[in-house]
Amino acid sequence: MADKLIIFDTTLRDGEQSPGASMTRDEKLRIARQLERLKVDVIEAGFAASSNGDFECVKSIAAVIKDSTVCSLARANDRDISRAAEALKPAKSARLHLFLATSALHMEKKLRMSPDEVYEQARLSTRFARNLMGDIEFSPEDGYRSDPDFLCRVLETVIAEGATTINVPDTVGYAIPELYGNFIKNLRERIPNSDKAVWSVHCHNDLGMAVANSLAGVTIGGARQVECTINGLGERAGNCSLEEIVMAVKTRKDYFNLDLNIDAKHILATSRMVSQTTGFVVQPNKAVVGANAFAHASGIHQDGVLKARDTYEIMRAEDVGWSANKIVLGKLSGRNAFKQRLQELGVSMESEAEINSAFARFKELADRKSDIFDEDILALVSDESVSHAAEQYAFVSLSQHSETGERPQASIVFTVLGKEVKGSSSGNGPVDASLKAIESHVKSGAEMVLYSVNAISGSTESQGEVTVRLQNSGRVVNGVGSDPDIVVASAKAYLSALNKLQNKADRVAAQG
Ligand code: KIV
Ligand code: ZN
Repeated sequence: MADKLIIFDTTLRDGEQSPGASMTRDEKLRIARQLERLKVDVIEAGFAASSNGDFECVKSIAAVIKDSTVCSLARANDRDISRAAEALKPAKSARLHLFLATSALHMEKKLRMSPDEVYEQARLSTRFARNLMGDIEFSPEDGYRSDPDFLCRVLETVIAEGATTINVPDTVGYAIPELYGNFIKNLRERIPNSDKAVWSVHCHNDLGMAVANSLAGVTIGGARQVECTINGLGERAGNCSLEEIVMAVKTRKDYFNLDLNIDAKHILATSRMVSQTTGFVVQPNKAVVGANAFAHASGIHQDGVLKARDTYEIMRAEDVGWSANKIVLGKLSGRNAFKQRLQELGVSMESEAEINSAFARFKELADRKSDIFDEDILALVSDESVSHAAEQYAFVSLSQHSETGERPQASIVFTVLGKEVKGSSSGNGPVDASLKAIESHVKSGAEMVLYSVNAISGSTESQGEVTVRLQNSGRVVNGVGSDPDIVVASAKAYLSALNKLQNKADRVAAQG
């Protein structure tokens, strides 16, 4: 019988540590629900003790997720652990994830603790955590660069104290597949009680080897849990990418002989949701979820695929959620067809009212754009600027004028708590003028740290999807807006970002 490989998703914790990727509570909840639909085994929902905002996020996710284990990160101290356990109280299945650095460099320079002190803290904090919860994961931070003798001593003790998962992070992405696999194998062989815990891999992608290292940790090292993020999101070069690990293990079942819970047909929708929420665009040639991942441009390949698909395809695009880029719906399509398409795309709406509101936006778009693609529908359901009626700012209309040799002018109408206001300005270009027109009224003082435009379905007829990242008083938020008119999409994205800056309940970026 095949062993099971546990998929531990840390998009909402380690992924979110990427500068600029911080998410609001609503966004995290939405992604957590999607991860549950994807059937990930463990969702690391955040780092509860790092801020009140993160505490609330972990708590809200713990309250709604039923089919995945919900986990919170905690430093290995009583305060962090108690706070994490408190946030996880509503969870049906919960895990505490303790971490403490064990490399000589981190102990001496960062923690300013001796190895004996670290050993003792690891032992006592695991004991403390185990008294609160049955499912305890321990991570020796910078584990791969730690002295193996010291690591064996620490890990044997935390297993004896009740840690049920041992995770070996390659925190700085320094590992090489064979060496990392053997590192874990060696630890498992040397630690007498190693069979009492599930072994886990956690690899960063600084040398582009996070997926390869993780797989070596599984095959050579015998790990049975992989920690990963959607689209490989994460600090610096990111984490091990969930979609690549999952599809490697599924596609090469002949080699890995491992079972996964994951329902792969939700992979693409999850990737898009994370990309749209964070503003981190997926590169076209990204494996599995990139726009070109299943596109055959060369004549020889196209011919081969038409004759026999497996000449050039090792996976079926539809198995990970791609459908042919066909015109799915139009102006005359009804609500049922729309609802069915949402289901096929893996989008689930909470209520009939939500479907009605999305359908109204679909009709409005179909009036302006004759061909509606899957990408349009996905953008439409995630368009923050129109989906939250109760938000502070909402877009109403825009007019702008630009002509060669003249400075562009824009006038915008938007609502502030339901009341219409108007702003006008000139600018370097129509987008600049429009955003300045908003600012002429709002005066947020926010600094724009990213502006990006993406064509949703690849032609000039497509909708533009704009991401705006704003920073104000230490907070960084992303706003996303889509529209066939990219100036309007820009204004919507800007208003969406302002709404997030306004929202006091949202978290201040919490870093581990
Ligand atoms: O990379 C790392 O070391 C981590 C730990 C906190 C698990 O993210
Ligand atoms: Zn990490």
